[in-house]
Amino acid sequence: MPKSLLTCLQLGLWLLPATRAAIFNSKTELPQNATNKYDFIVVGGGTAGLVIANRLTENSNTSVLVIEAGGFHENPQDMNITIPFLTTHASPGGPFDWNYTTTPQTGVSNQTIAYPRGFVLGGTSSINSFAYTRGTSEDYDRIANLTGDSGWSWDALRPYILKAELLTPPADGHDTSNQLNVSVHGSVNTSALLGTSAPGFSQKDFDSRVIGTTTQEGFQEEFPFNLDMNGGTNLGIGWQVSSISNGTRSSSARKYLAPFVDQRPNLDVLLNTRVARLVPDTSNDAQNLSIHTVEIVSSPDDIPLSLSANSEVVLSAGAIGTPQILLLTGYGDSCANLSIPTILSNPSVGQNLSDHPAVSQIWSVNSTETWEAFQATRNETAFAEVLEQWQNNRTGPLSDALFNQLGWLRVNESDPDVTAALEEFGDPSAGVNTAHFELLFSNGFLGDTPSEGNYMTILTILSTPFSRGSITLTSSSIFDPPLIDPAFLSHPFDFIAIRSGFLAARRFVTAPTWDNYIISQFDNINGSSIDEIDQFIRNTTRSAYHVVGTASMSAKNADWGVVDPDLRLKGVEGVRVVDASVLPYTPSGHTEAIVYILAERAADLIKDTWGL
Ligand SMILES: Cc1cc2nc3c(=O)[nH]c(=O)nc-3n(C[C@H](O)[C@H](O)[C@H](O)COP(=O)(O)OP(=O)(O)OC[C@H]3O[C@@H](n4cnc5c(N)ncnc54)[C@H](O)[C@@H]3O)c2cc1C
Ligand SMILES: *[C@@H]1O[C@H](CO)[C@@H](O)[C@H](O)[C@H]1NC(C)=O
Ligand SMILES: *[C@@H]1O[C@H](CO)[C@@H](O)[C@H](O)[C@H]1NC(C)=O
Ligand SMILES: *[C@@H]1O[C@H](CO)[C@@H](O)[C@H](O)[C@H]1NC(C)=O
Ligand SMILES: *[C@@H]1O[C@H](CO)[C@@H](O)[C@H](O)[C@H]1NC(C)=O
Ligand SMILES: *[C@@H]1O[C@H](CO)[C@@H](O)[C@H](O)[C@H]1NC(C)=O
Ligand SMILES: *[C@@H]1O[C@H](CO)[C@@H](O)[C@H](O)[C@H]1NC(C)=O
Ligand SMILES: *[C@@H]1O[C@H](CO)[C@@H](O)[C@H](O)[C@H]1NC(C)=O
Ligand SMILES: *[C@@H]1O[C@H](CO)[C@@H](O)[C@H](O)[C@H]1NC(C)=O
Ligand SMILES: *[C@@H]1O[C@H](CO)[C@@H](O)[C@H](O)[C@H]1NC(C)=O
Ligand SMILES: *[C@@H]1O[C@H](CO)[C@@H](O)[C@H](O)[C@H]1NC(C)=O
Ligand SMILES: *[C@@H]1O[C@H](CO)[C@@H](O)[C@H](O)[C@H]1NC(C)=O
Ligand SMILES: *[C@@H]1O[C@H](CO)[C@@H](O)[C@H](O)[C@H]1NC(C)=O
Repeated sequence: MPKSLLTCLQLGLWLLPATRAAIFNSKTELPQNATNKYDFIVVGGGTAGLVIANRLTENSNTSVLVIEAGGFHENPQDMNITIPFLTTHASPGGPFDWNYTTTPQTGVSNQTIAYPRGFVLGGTSSINSFAYTRGTSEDYDRIANLTGDSGWSWDALRPYILKAELLTPPADGHDTSNQLNVSVHGSVNTSALLGTSAPGFSQKDFDSRVIGTTTQEGFQEEFPFNLDMNGGTNLGIGWQVSSISNGTRSSSARKYLAPFVDQRPNLDVLLNTRVARLVPDTSNDAQNLSIHTVEIVSSPDDIPLSLSANSEVVLSAGAIGTPQILLLTGYGDSCANLSIPTILSNPSVGQNLSDHPAVSQIWSVNSTETWEAFQATRNETAFAEVLEQWQNNRTGPLSDALFNQLGWLRVNESDPDVTAALEEFGDPSAGVNTAHFELLFSNGFLGDTPSEGNYMTILTILSTPFSRGSITLTSSSIFDPPLIDPAFLSHPFDFIAIRSGFLAARRFVTAPTWDNYIISQFDNINGSSIDEIDQFIRNTTRSAYHVVGTASMSAKNADWGVVDPDLRLKGVEGVRVVDASVLPYTPSGHTEAIVYILAERAADLIKDTWGL
């Protein structure tokens, strides 16, 4: 026996507590005493869940177990969830997706739409498209107003807004002073972890045409330049900030977990395991419902195992998983037909689903410097070169996201259909400094690239939908996907508003900057009648994948809603919900930033409760 090992044994060092986080790959690896070992159980190791796990375990006096349905996020073959430009290969479908689809959507020609969600550590932050946009101050103030908790207002959230972002230099190191305003972004000083950056690869010709349009006579009024869309108002066209740092995806797994594994013996993670339902405490009487136990399974015919948290269960299974688990628990609307006993009737669970519908337009262009130049399906040699460059030093076109610029605009009030709709239904936006729709500019064909030609895409996303959908169960098993109905364009205002954005994109490309560049509209709607345009929108609208609202927060005394403003499950002691499902309104922005911000505040709410 080596002398050093002998010494260790003699000193009894094997009894010393662990010094690092344990990653269990299946529930059979859990220690015998895991049943009552942890203070907090976080359900879902996704975007929000890993923020909670990280911040709670900053205090060594507490312990956390994260339970994640998917697997580990950093295997060598996982290029598609690591290299930014390859994100379109990460979903829909493939090993990191839940593979959901929607119900047939009557508002969009009865399409059944692919509805990806991350099935991997990091959750949807491991497969998303990186746009880091907070929405507007009015978005947050509206939530504060609705919930009666001024802590959710833009001003009160400022410390968390800064803590949820660590601005870093772009992959190519260029000067970004005319692309963003540093003082509105987070930095190391705020103990921020999530690396972000301005675009890391210049798409010279295309970039200058997009930005050039904002200063062109006759166009700058409708399409003004906005130096920073994250400063509180978002109106205008500007440069995107992405959740990319060092030319690599910044997911919650990479930024809130991986660097801490060696330092946090109080943080354990259980992978490849689903929470099937929550189980009420046995001491419950009708007046005082409390829950500290989760039931976990690894396959449909597995014998469930129960684990109990000493302090709280935090549900962070996302806007589909969270309502599914609540409904399976019997917390929700009557589930009698599925033989799930009701523990508390709450018809708001799974309702109020809000998502952003999105529709593309594609033009063929007079350029050879579009994505098509290095796509693997087009030119394997060129792809091998850019891949090698990325592997060498994390630069080049693969270090960049799908969009270098985004635009945020209000519906066009010189269109009589728009003014009539505003008059009839009111304004769905949170305020006059908040965009109704977004334009996203891509230097290539966003979708299945044809075998020839060069392209550009403008995607229009409706940011302020009135339509509301739902999540409902089809069975009493966690292994059966729920019915997902985003109700896209089911509200008449939404159709008028997305069409307004679609037409704005068509005006944008009539600026002289696009002369000699755009050859023709590729999707065959050039010069079409408004009826054909309407039909095209209904035929081709998809999701921007920003589902929220299915376990909405509301005021303490409200007669609807699922969680209080402190994110506690209404009527239950011991459970909080922290993920996109608690947002009662979708922001005028992509949803990852607001989820990180809300999770950072939620971690402090939980720490305050327990004196951590
Ligand atoms: C393709 C795509 C592109 C996107 N692009 C952008 C973008 O560019 N910018 C942006 O801001 N937003 C984007 N989004 C949306 C954004 O990423 C999400 O809103 C956000 O990540 C949601 O975070 P969450 O914590 O609510 O849920 P998630 O991150 O989805 O976390 C939920 C976790 O819970 C796990 N889970 C679920 N059920 C169970 C169960 N029963 N037991 C155990 N674990 C469970 C899941 O596997 C997952 O890991 C995109 C989304 C998609 C799908
Ligand atoms: C659980 O068991 C492990 C050994 O498997 C031990 O190190 C740890 O102290 C125990 N924890 C509790 C809370 O009993
Ligand atoms: C941990 O708990 C002990 C005993 O209650 C206390 O003295 C100590 O300050 C706590 N440490 C932290 C980091 O909270
Ligand atoms: C990554 O994407 C490519 C191209 O779509 C695909 O062939 C490959 O299987 C994907 N890899 C994984 C691990 O999903
Ligand atoms: C989604 O489908 C892929 C195969 O394309 C599979 O590997 C993956 O496990 C599926 N996801 C789930 C949650 O079953
Ligand atoms: C959509 O489906 C409904 C119900 O099946 C049907 O009545 C309607 O005609 C369909 N609409 C389209 C555009 O196909
Ligand atoms: C909500 O908004 C209304 C109208 O603007 C205002 O009167 C009220 O004070 C606000 N309530 C809260 C809690 O902010
Ligand atoms: C940058 O943001 C700060 C803080 O919001 C603001 O005071 C300043 O005017 C902004 N600078 C520019 C150039 O917009
Ligand atoms: C950036 O990536 C390179 C290449 O893998 C690596 O050597 C370097 O340490 C990374 N830098 C940071 C700050 O992560
Ligand atoms: C493919 O890419 C290589 C390397 O960039 C280039 O030399 C070649 O001309 C390209 N082929 C075609 C057909 O464009
Ligand atoms: C990165 O590597 C490429 C070659 O693959 C080289 O052309 C480029 O100059 C390098 N960039 C930096 C910043 O080192
Ligand atoms: C393509 O660009 C070239 C030079 O920039 C120009 O001469 C030509 O007219 C353009 N073609 C079209 C179809 O716009
Ligand atoms: C819309 O889809 C219908 C049914 O597939 C098709 O007949 C029609 O031509 C499409 N219209 C447009 C403008 O795409």
